Amino acid sequence: MLDLLVQNAALPDGRTGMSVAVRGEKIVEVCAGLQSPAHQVLDAQGYLLSPPFVDAHFHMDATLSYGLPRVNQSGTLLEGIALWGELKPLLTQEALIERALAYCDWAVAKGLLAIRTHVDVCDPRLLAVEALLEVKRQVAPYIDLQLVAFPQNGVLRGAQGPQQHINNLKRALDMGVDVVGGIPHFERTMADGAISVRLLCELAAERGLRVDMHCDESDDPHSRHVETLAFETQRLGMHGRVTGSHLTSMHSMDNYYVSKLLPLMAEAQLQVVANPLINITLQGRHDTYPKRRGMTRVPELLAAGINVAFGHDCVMDPWYSLGSGDMLEVAHMGLHVGQMTSQAAMRQCFDAVTVNPARILGLGGYGLEAGCNADFVLLQARDPVEALRLRANRLQVFRKGTCIASAPACASTLRLPGRPASTGFMA
Ligand code: FE2
Repeated sequence: MLDLLVQNAALPDGRTGMSVAVRGEKIVEVCAGLQSPAHQVLDAQGYLLSPPFVDAHFHMDATLSYGLPRVNQSGTLLEGIALWGELKPLLTQEALIERALAYCDWAVAKGLLAIRTHVDVCDPRLLAVEALLEVKRQVAPYIDLQLVAFPQNGVLRGAQGPQQHINNLKRALDMGVDVVGGIPHFERTMADGAISVRLLCELAAERGLRVDMHCDESDDPHSRHVETLAFETQRLGMHGRVTGSHLTSMHSMDNYYVSKLLPLMAEAQLQVVANPLINITLQGRHDTYPKRRGMTRVPELLAAGINVAFGHDCVMDPWYSLGSGDMLEVAHMGLHVGQMTSQAAMRQCFDAVTVNPARILGLGGYGLEAGCNADFVLLQARDPVEALRLRANRLQVFRKGTCIASAPACASTLRLPGRPASTGFMA
């Protein structure tokens, strides 16, 4: 006897009329038209059943703090960092936890069940680290939360000096933070940035941890930290365990140089997270016209065989005033900014918020196959492209075989002579 049988589902790979059988917390079979007794049967009505959304790049310690203590006037990354510096002394652990848990509620409702969040480790009290470790513990039944030790003020540049910053970072790792972060473009010089990349990669290699660095988040065409990150990754044998986040300078780099860089990144099996909602608003702020878009070269990275995810990065914080945990909104923006409009490219954008970030996080049991965790989202759309077009309603969200969020099907009632009584925006 099955615990759950989903019938008549479309899957992201294009198969339709599919059944997904669940026993306990696991998927036990995926095939067409399965008939088998089950405690619960869900008719998907031809809608898309997707593995859950995954966000490979977020800042949960800052989320939902918009307007505290003031709003970012210039809209730049640097004013956002300064604003966060003003907010940090005012933070309390209770407020951090409350805001993070509220965001996790939104995430679950949007079918977002795995998040990698950077957590600022510059405050020697490690208040945010303690708060997010507590959040990780509390949400573990429904969200896989992975923490990155993020030295927001730079390891060499920060006011407390390099030794203190490294010590803070090591303490955070000792407390249970999973991944080593960094921000080389915020160090004082290109040389200091390169030193920080080496130090942090060596620390991760020593401890057998993954690396995820904010890297070259600027419009500077000469920023070269991703090259250093690729070099250190292959030197230390950390292939496939290192991620470069943002990489916006690649947008502005010389094309010849990029033709050399992409194979180096592929050789190191570097993984990439682009954050389209944030970087389309933060980048190009010093430009008049034409204004650069500032997102890294997503189609070219994918064509070079590099794994690329789209991250949300920020929701209602010093850097970004909008957002709701909706990874389809993130992918929708990435698709537009990257001009990824072919059918194949739009499907790649859907992968960039599902399977690709799952690889970056190293999630076990992810996917819609026998043996995987019974985690999935039923979307009110018939395929990934329609899901992107509609930023589709999440009809049901399942975690380990249990429905943890649901929403009524949405349709607008029409009162028009001679026209249908409603529309669901499906052609
Ligand atoms: Fe970020």
